[in-house]
Amino acid sequence: MKFFIDTANLEQIKEAEALGVLDGVTTNPSLMAKEGITGEANIIQHYVDICEAVEGDVSAEVISTDYEGMIAEGEKLAALNPQIVVKLPMIKDGVKACKYFSSKGIRTNVTLVFSAGQALLAAKAGATYVSPFIGRLDDISTDGLNLIEEIRMIYDNYGFKTEILAASVRHTMHILNCAKIGADVMTGPLSAIEGLLKHPLTDSGLAKFLEDYAKGN
Ligand code: G3P
Repeated sequence: MKFFIDTANLEQIKEAEALGVLDGVTTNPSLMAKEGITGEANIIQHYVDICEAVEGDVSAEVISTDYEGMIAEGEKLAALNPQIVVKLPMIKDGVKACKYFSSKGIRTNVTLVFSAGQALLAAKAGATYVSPFIGRLDDISTDGLNLIEEIRMIYDNYGFKTEILAASVRHTMHILNCAKIGADVMTGPLSAIEGLLKHPLTDSGLAKFLEDYAKGN
């Protein structure tokens, strides 16, 4: 299972990279804005900086909603660094652009996916990654994990190579449940990744080991 961090915060990206378990980064315009990164030139530079900070894939999202605009933007983003994966919205022109990029060998991440039908289309269009947003489904009382299960079944039925990138992961249990279902990738905040570390018996066990060691010295 690949671990991506879902942020545009360089400090957190570097911290996750330093942990040694990071396979990539996902961003979106909202995450960029949250870090105060605005304007095309600054956003492009930020992608370059993120690519320098990590070894893995970096999803960079297009803003255009028409086919021609997505192609122009996506080609520009992909040219920045081989780590870049062009992130496209799940709309009609996004599917067409996905097909274009996959035929050119440019990797894609189809985002804002909320149904199995959308995920099937993304796979048919040759997406490298498909991003179902599980947290946002949970937000509206719909089980996001069910969607991951449905997509897993459909992709396995036909051997689609598109990787299921569970997105809008909010907490540690989302990561664990995605792992049980067989999501290929999860993208979430640093807090959710670090939550995997925590167990009170680890802390109390270590405290006792250190206490007993100190007795003999
Ligand atoms: O990975 C998609 C993500 O950025 C959306 O997360 O928490 O805004 O639903 P959230």
